[in-house]
Amino acid sequence: MATPSMEDYIEQIYLLIEQKGYARVSDIAEALSVHPSSVTKMVQKLDKDEYLVYEKYRGFTLTSKGKKVGKRLVYRHDLLEDLLRTIGVMEENIYNDVEGIEHHLSWNAIDRIGDLVQFFEEDETRVHALRDIQKKNEEPE
Ligand code: CO
Repeated sequence: MATPSMEDYIEQIYLLIEQKGYARVSDIAEALSVHPSSVTKMVQKLDKDEYLVYEKYRGFTLTSKGKKVGKRLVYRHDLLEDLLRTIGVMEENIYNDVEGIEHHLSWNAIDRIGDLVQFFEEDETRVHALRDIQKKNEEPE
């Protein structure tokens, strides 16, 4: 896995705070498979950029800017999972595929993917039509 980006950190911190009410350096290090010292360094940078407030011995909280960005990043991640699930990507691939592509798409592309997911969600026959094509494509020649 590539070095986690600033966005990965904000995303994970947002998720941890949502799930547990707090985010510790050790939890973030585990979630992102990095050394705690890398987390501390990034947390200090995020503090400087006003995404969170860091207090050395008391953990930290997201600022409203950090929450807003975190919420958007989690929305984007979930939307891309919805897309891959809808188009029939194998469950075991979905999380890592999304982690691999999410930082490389423009918000414009994300909005259009939102339309596409909605297109499938609004009418189940559209999903069935896609599955029919997929079945055909999987048939041996
Ligand atoms: Co993600």
